[in-house]
Amino acid sequence: MHMRIAVLPGDGIGPEVTAAALQVLERVAQRFGHSVDVHEALIGGAAIDATGSPLPDETLAPCRDSDAILLGAVGGPKWSDPGATVRPEQGLLRLRSELGLFANLRPVTVHPALVDLVPLKAERLQGVDLLVVRELTGGIYFGEKRREGDVAIDGCRYSVLEIERVVRLAAQLARGRTRRVTQVDKANVLETSRLWREVTTRVMREEFPDVAIEHQLVDSMAMHLISKPSAFDVIVTENLFGDILTDEAAVLAGSLGLLPSASIGASGPGVYEPIHGSAPDIAGRNIANPIGTILSVAMMLRWSFKLEAEAAAIEKAVSDVLHSGARTADLSRENSLGTDAMAGLIAAQI
Ligand code: IPM
Ligand code: MN
Repeated sequence: MHMRIAVLPGDGIGPEVTAAALQVLERVAQRFGHSVDVHEALIGGAAIDATGSPLPDETLAPCRDSDAILLGAVGGPKWSDPGATVRPEQGLLRLRSELGLFANLRPVTVHPALVDLVPLKAERLQGVDLLVVRELTGGIYFGEKRREGDVAIDGCRYSVLEIERVVRLAAQLARGRTRRVTQVDKANVLETSRLWREVTTRVMREEFPDVAIEHQLVDSMAMHLISKPSAFDVIVTENLFGDILTDEAAVLAGSLGLLPSASIGASGPGVYEPIHGSAPDIAGRNIANPIGTILSVAMMLRWSFKLEAEAAAIEKAVSDVLHSGARTADLSRENSLGTDAMAGLIAAQI
């Protein structure tokens, strides 16, 4: 297969982790007889510095023309002035919205070799295997934003259609797992959440009678995620709650640096990116963990190219390398490997 990949390294550790993940992608391609054509472009702060825009047309156009997009991270102190009107994050949000990537899949599992890193009792981690399906192009992220004198307003808006499509996807994914969906909202307070609950209940009853549905309020879900994480499987929720709950869920995996994500729409290229940010404090030092981005490449192979064996080969290589004791600095204080060396070990294992 021929794969046309747009690579958007972004800011901070983004260039290091995407370069590391490409090393692994090239190894998989070689091993399985595929060819990869990489088109690199600017996003975020790097794009603001070069063009004034966090998502210039010369980035969006090749993204639309690609089969899939690999993204590092955006943002950093250089562009975070509260008074700034142009921000790196706008580039990422606009990319998601322009490409119609309404669902962000964030799997969370616990690697047996990393259980000791998790600040929870080992028995609570038994059987943890979550898939968070975060709605990605609606809600308070994309609502009307304005100032009225010394008041600031962020509108939160959801339509029936926006809820239906992401709930359907979550339910379909649940059919390939343990057929359980937990829908998270704040229906005791928010009107949008009441719509989420109403639509979810109807879609599940009419179209997915074989999948169990449960509803949780986001505040108590934040507690349950830590106190009984193995009680959940597929979790579907709105944009902001999904953003917050997945950083929390990353604690279960041992490090935010390990977690991948796939942002997908009804058609067209998806965006594959680690869930972590640009980590400006460690940028340029070759110490960032590339595994979240490497596992995002596995999700890309599975979702955009339907290459299940190739995706599984990457996941197994990551697992084997962690079993062998290899660690990046976020996972171990001593004898840690650099970003390149970790990626090299994983590539060599494929
Ligand atoms: C994420 C990030 C982004 C988000 C930021 C960088 C805009 O935190 O992908 O989780 O909030 O969606
Ligand atoms: Mn986030």
